[in-house]
Amino acid sequence: MNVLIIGGGGREHALAWKIGQSSRVGRVFVAPGNAGTAMDAENINIAADEFAELINFAKQNKVELTVVGPEGPLAAGIVDAMEQEGLRVFGPGKAAAELEASKVFCKNLLRGADVPSADYQTFDDADRAIKFLEDREDMPIVVKADGLAAGKGVIVCPGRDEALEAVRRIGQERAFGAAGDRLVIEERLDGQEASVLALTDGKTIVTLQPAQDHKPAHDGDTGPNTGGMGAYCPAPLVDDETLHWIEEHVLVPTVHAMKRAGRSFRGVLYAGLMMTYQGPKVLEYNVRFGDPECQPLLMRLKTDLVELLEATVEGRLDKLGPLEWDPRPAVCVVMASEGYPGSYTTGHPIRGLDEAAKLPDVKVFHAGTKKADGRVVTAGGRVLNVTALGSSIANAKLNAYTAVKCIRWDGAWCRKDISDKALV
Ligand code: AMP
Ligand code: GLY
Repeated sequence: MNVLIIGGGGREHALAWKIGQSSRVGRVFVAPGNAGTAMDAENINIAADEFAELINFAKQNKVELTVVGPEGPLAAGIVDAMEQEGLRVFGPGKAAAELEASKVFCKNLLRGADVPSADYQTFDDADRAIKFLEDREDMPIVVKADGLAAGKGVIVCPGRDEALEAVRRIGQERAFGAAGDRLVIEERLDGQEASVLALTDGKTIVTLQPAQDHKPAHDGDTGPNTGGMGAYCPAPLVDDETLHWIEEHVLVPTVHAMKRAGRSFRGVLYAGLMMTYQGPKVLEYNVRFGDPECQPLLMRLKTDLVELLEATVEGRLDKLGPLEWDPRPAVCVVMASEGYPGSYTTGHPIRGLDEAAKLPDVKVFHAGTKKADGRVVTAGGRVLNVTALGSSIANAKLNAYTAVKCIRWDGAWCRKDISDKALV
């Protein structure tokens, strides 16, 4: 069968690479893809928001399964649009994607389902939010824009002044446009973060191995927040007992509550968790594979991913045997452009990719790259996701950084401490 993957980042490269390994798959297309997906699959020049073109392409090229990578098209209803045309798609419909696309919806659902999460209030105008902040004790607090804001709509504030400033930016200056029509203000949680992803067909939940992202730009978790500077899997912070607890108290009630709300969830449910002294609490839900968590996860997954995705789409996850994993941990280091997450330049030729590709147990997934004049050049902030397996987390880290050292371009940088949190 032919498979179409929608998106063009490191997550989509990992999906294309893994899906291409399935004996059941003929051609793998990626829309629009990057220079890496062009090597492991076939790129098609259609953007992720061009639904009519994507549907036409899928019909004309005998695509029997479409996998949607990013949240934007999911929230805009691509799954509903493709299903209406009789196409098979992996991902939640628009109503279920609200779980990520609206933080107000997510928080209310969590409260209704008794899933542990930070205490919160919602506001539909900035003046009321300001009054609320002025009337309450000065303490750390988090201000969130309701809608999708490319990961930037969450502002963690040390105190009232910063929170007031955040409310003004989101609610009055409209820094994130309509995403800021409503606001969530919640208590700040402390602890380490973990990502627990699960596949669900709305009835059965298949939990994947826990992973951990590194959101701040610089070593020691300092500097501005980014889309993620690296990840590793498994995350020892979430042991088997904790993972079962998360299944029972977080994932199961969420999937049930979604069903009761008439928004049955099918796809990847990604719980972003804070491991607090009172136990795990949900920071947010995403309705897709995490980027970069997907890269180390898929490096370790031995089960045929296509079988897993099809069982999810067809509602027969209960018939699937246990997942098989490579017992070796995987570490993924993001190589970024100078200036990211602020402004940066692109078009710099990348050298050393062939050398890195020769290393054992290493896969360099591309994120912001493209081909220009026969060369691979930078085309984004997060450029490459250098991912490696190893006999231990420390060994996987060593393998990943050995590959990183082979690769060069003007302004390339990365965090040097990816996975260290697992080692302390
Ligand atoms: P989100 O977009 O909701 O994933 O939030 C992005 C990041 O903001 C999370 O990964 C956390 O690092 C941080 N964050 C969100 N909510 C809270 C909270 N209640 N307490 C502390 N940090 C938070
Ligand atoms: N790694 C964070 C995300 O995918 O949202």
